[in-house]
Amino acid sequence: MTLRHFTSLLDVSSAELRTLIHRAIELKNHRDIDYQPLKGRVLAMIFEKSSTRTRISFEAGMAHFGGSALFLSPRDTQLGRGEPLRDSAKVISSMVDCIMLRTDKHDTVATFAEHSSVPVINGLTDEQHPCQLLADIQTFFELRGDLQGKTVAWIGDGNNMCHSYIHAAMLLDFTLHIACPAGYCPSPAIVAAAGGRVKFFAGTVAAAQDADLVVTDVWASMGHEEEQRQRQIAFKDYQVNNAVMSAAKTDALFMHCLPAHRGEEVSGDVIDGPQSVVFQEAENRLHAQKALLEFLLCRK
Ligand code: CP
Ligand code: NVA
Repeated sequence: MTLRHFTSLLDVSSAELRTLIHRAIELKNHRDIDYQPLKGRVLAMIFEKSSTRTRISFEAGMAHFGGSALFLSPRDTQLGRGEPLRDSAKVISSMVDCIMLRTDKHDTVATFAEHSSVPVINGLTDEQHPCQLLADIQTFFELRGDLQGKTVAWIGDGNNMCHSYIHAAMLLDFTLHIACPAGYCPSPAIVAAAGGRVKFFAGTVAAAQDADLVVTDVWASMGHEEEQRQRQIAFKDYQVNNAVMSAAKTDALFMHCLPAHRGEEVSGDVIDGPQSVVFQEAENRLHAQKALLEFLLCRK
């Protein structure tokens, strides 16, 4: 079996992504507790940042599949004391079957993948959050079908989630409308690679016009907490509220990777309203990542 990593959504092809999503839906709808393809296998989960959904979904997913997961933090391992990443990747991968990494720098995940003898999964970096996209795509497919030809509106920070949405637009062939404040736009290199699939808009309502899906994320991601005050000023007109949702299609969905700040990037009536699918989206982290683990570890 050739070694495959999932450091970015672009590590899979369009066809593989669609197969993964359909498998996630199948695993969700027809759970067989005797199906334990990862019996005796171990996932190491390295968290340099906090997590609720990512940790629980990977740990539960491994348990469902008969395997186990180790929670490792830099505080309690030699990673926090400066052991070189390449040495850590070699050592850890010699003892486990898969490594999931949540870290600040995207380069850290890339270095781990380069030196690991087992698949490495990106559980969020400052640049990308591909596992969340699997869950978001699964949720849309369940409720509305394929994203091809659809319009998705990204409102707010041009952050890790926004970058992974750009990758999703490339793979699934949808149009991504982005409204972000000046100075908080996504990476020009990532945008350029997507060609005409990404379009920028001056305001939130214009970006949401006729959208099939409206998505946002916190104004200050992990690691940017000290910028919270200046971001509150920069992002004050970048809230997904009823005015924004009214510009979208009448059957448009609202998604947010969570955790959310009601009253900041999203109004309470939208996130708790009928178009919001945030809890289905959160649950789908479990199913989508089970499909991912199966794809990385059980491929023929
Ligand atoms: N959406 C997401 O990745 O959540 P956690 O930070 O709780 O893992
Ligand atoms: N953009 C957010 C996502 C959290 C799941 C962050 O990086 O903190």
